[in-house]
Formats: sequence, C-alpha cells, structure tokens
Amino acid sequence: MTRGTQADDPHPAASPVRRAPSPPGSPVVGHARAFQRDPLGFLQAAAQACGPVARLKLGPMTYHLVSDPALIAEVLQVRASNYLRDTRSSRRVRMVTGESLLTSEGTAWRHQRQAVQPIFHHRNLLDLGRTMLNVVDEACAGWERAAASGATLDLVTEMSRLSFAVAGRCLFGADLRDRANAVEGALPVLLEELFRRTSHVANLPQWLPLPRHLAFRRSLAAIHRVVAEVIDEHRLPVTGSRSAAVDLLGLLMKARSETGAPLSDEDLRNHVVTFLLAGHETTANALTWAFALLAMAPQELEHVHTELDRVAFDARESGAIECLPQLEHVGAVLQETLRLYPSIWIAERRVVEVDDLGGWRLPAGSAVVVSPYVVHRQPGRWDQPEVFRPARFRNGEPPLLLRDGYFPFGAGPHTCIGQHFALMEAKIILATLLSRFRVTLLNGALPAPLGGITLRPSTAVPIRVERRRL
Ligand code: HEM
Repeated sequence: MTRGTQADDPHPAASPVRRAPSPPGSPVVGHARAFQRDPLGFLQAAAQACGPVARLKLGPMTYHLVSDPALIAEVLQVRASNYLRDTRSSRRVRMVTGESLLTSEGTAWRHQRQAVQPIFHHRNLLDLGRTMLNVVDEACAGWERAAASGATLDLVTEMSRLSFAVAGRCLFGADLRDRANAVEGALPVLLEELFRRTSHVANLPQWLPLPRHLAFRRSLAAIHRVVAEVIDEHRLPVTGSRSAAVDLLGLLMKARSETGAPLSDEDLRNHVVTFLLAGHETTANALTWAFALLAMAPQELEHVHTELDRVAFDARESGAIECLPQLEHVGAVLQETLRLYPSIWIAERRVVEVDDLGGWRLPAGSAVVVSPYVVHRQPGRWDQPEVFRPARFRNGEPPLLLRDGYFPFGAGPHTCIGQHFALMEAKIILATLLSRFRVTLLNGALPAPLGGITLRPSTAVPIRVERRRL
C-alpha cells in the first residue's frame, strides 16, 4: 500500500467533553523549552503520545495540536469562522508585512484576496509560465559555468536566487537579480526573529536596542528600500526592460477600495512584502528538498531523466509550456517532496468561542495549531512515511487531499493563493535544470530539516553539477 490510509475514529468514545490530554511538561514553562529545542520532533511526539488533539502549554498560553484530518477540516474549513487567523504568530508576521493578505481577516481579507486573485487564474498562469521559462533558461548560464569549471554551488542559495528572480519578474515585473544580495541578507534575519518571538513565552520590547532587534530593523529597512524601488520602477512608462504583461503589482495599482480610492503607498508596500515573504522562500525550500531527495534516490532520478528525454523537454522551445502536463513523474516528485517537507509546516488559529472538537473541550481564546509535517509523516496513516516514494502520487488516481491526510497548501478560505503558481514554477525549474544537468550532493546525505517560519535545511547544501545534454 503506498497511499494514505484512514486513521481510527478520532472521536473518543467517552463523553462528556473533556480537556484534551497533554504530554509531560514543566510546571512553569510547560512545553516551551521542548518546543524551542526541537519543534518538529516535539510536535510529532506529542501527536503520537496524545492522539488527535494534544493540549500544549507555552508558558501561560494554551495550544491544541490537532492532528486528525477530519478534525483539521472542522477547524480550517467547516467551522473556519470560529477559528480565526488573528493569532500570536500572525501578529508577529504583521511586524513585517503590516495589514495584508497573510494577516487580515473578515471583509478586509476578502477584499484583498479578490483584488489579487486574477493574477493566479489559469489563463494568466500560462503567460506567467512563459516568463518563468525565460528566467530559468537565463539562469542556466551560471550552472553551465559551474559544470565547466567543476565549481561547488550551494543548492540553498541557488534555489533562493532563482525563485527570487521568478517572483520579481512574474509578480512585480522587475528584474531583481542585482538586488538578490540585499534580500538574501535581510529575509532570513526577519524570518528568524519572527519565529523566535512566536515560539518564546516572553519577549523583550522590540524598541530595546539589542543587537538582534537592531539587525531586525536594518533588515526590514533594506527590504522596504528594495520594495520602494520596485514600486517606483513599475510606475515608469513600459520600456524594453519591462514587458506590458499583467503582473500582480500592476493589478494592485489598479485596485480600488469600496470607496473608489487607490491603495496607499503603504498598502502597496505591504502587499509586495507579503508576496515576497509568502512566495519566495516557500518555493525555494521545496525545490532545494526536491533536488536533494532526487540526488539521494538514483532510481527516482533516472525515472525523471527518462521522462524528460521521452517528452524532449526543452525550456527554449516555444511549446515547452504545453509539455508540462506530460511531466507526470516530475509532478509526483514535487507532491512527494511537499509531503515530506511541507514549506509551511505549521499554521495557527485562535478559538473564538468555546468548542467541542471531537469530544475535547477547546476554551475560547486558546489556540489551535495544525501541522502538515506531523500529519504527512503519521505512521498509522502512511506506509513507510519517512521513505521518499513519488509513486504514492500515481497519475490517474484521484489526487490526495486533506481527508487523506495531505494538505501542503492548507485548506479552507485561507488556502494558499499561490499554489498553482508555485507548482508550475517548481516544475519548470526542476525540469529545465534536470534536463540539462546531473546534480550530486557533496555531503552525500540529506541535511536535517529546521522548523522555523518555513521548513528549510539546517545547513548549506553543497552540490556539483555536470552537463547532461545540450
Ligand atoms: C511550495 C510553495 C508554497 C507552499 C508549500 C505554501 C503553503 C501555504 C499554506 C500552507 C498556506 C495556508 C496557511 C494557513 O492556513 O494559515 C498558504 C497561504 C498563502 N500563500 Fe502559500 N505556499 C507556497 C507558495 C506560495 C506562493 C508562490 C505565493 C504567492 C505567489 C503564496 C502566497 C500565499 C498567500 C498570500 C497566502 C495567504 C492566503 C490567504 O490567507 O488568503 N504561497 N501558503
């Protein structure tokens, strides 16, 4: 059996409603230290020990880890209006993005989602796909040089730059390659501080001039500078350096509020920062893991190469975009990568009114966390969950969904708006680079995953690349 299996009935037989079970923890800080030390391992162990709902204490705050798909569907979809995203972690994200699609709720959120939705429509995605093919084809020159000289590359940096270049051109109509350094230095500082502030029970005020806080401020200012440049450039008349194709920033500039007013400069900036934050590192991480997993699984890699050769995939050909649906194994590799390494590995909601979830009492004001990482690796649900096996996503079978325990892009109203964009981008990058190059991991082993705001490798991933075919 290679696909997900149904778990036991998540609803405890005993009623009346009770407090959910809790793993052992310290009387004062609860589970805070265990979570900070190893967030991924701690949550996996808590779900294993406590079942569908585990009650966790981070100091004074109560979290419920919900790890049964039927109950997760209750939280994210069926009773989404009782489980809002206005949470501690979203307040932290707001420190970077301000009020935006990632942090808002209610009417403001709906309005923002409607304003940007057209960019992700199927018809527009095909045009964006053509832009992606050009960006990736241009980036191959760097790999050609590395292949010729035998230089070592870092997979994490390579994927970060590539997905940054794609985001720049497709979302903002900008060539961001010369600004990659500024963002590469700044984004990790911001993400690390956000996660630190979310996972720590108590935080010192951000205005205190600690080195960490100063680095955060400098990094935010650096991102704001890049974003201001991107917006200013977009306001210039279209020239050869920027095509007239529709992009997200263009749509946002045309968007009007209910009163007919255009977005303020600050709103525009918040949207651009949001899409950089949500759309750049997520896809870059997924790609890093996909290349690394393939490099460690020669048979799967051979399968991908055979498919690329059979389809004669070539990013330079005008029909390349139409070839993408034929790359079924590449698609399965990506789905399986996101099972093992879902870039957004945890999501949080606030309980508005007291609820009985599967027979467990969730008090108003407490929080719920759901983790695709935990559910995607549950032993009772997946056959050999730790093994990389793209055949789980066999073509022709119905796609795996949340009810099967698979939800790398979330579910319900806040489901990832960039899902199809991300999958197309990742497919184009994998297919283009693997059709031309063979990738070897120099460390000969997968890096350990690090659960922060996104799920990334804990170390650099040195690789060597060789030419395959012209
Ligand atoms: C492999 C890549 C990606 C993964 C795994 C991923 C995953 C997710 C997940 C799990 C959520 C839901 C979070 C929650 O329920 O709280 C989400 C939301 C979101 N994602 Fe993605 N994402 C990816 C790429 C992208 C891209 C490329 C973009 C934009 C171009 C994007 C934009 C967003 C936005 C704006 C939201 C918030 C949507 C809303 O609340 O209405 N994501 N993403």
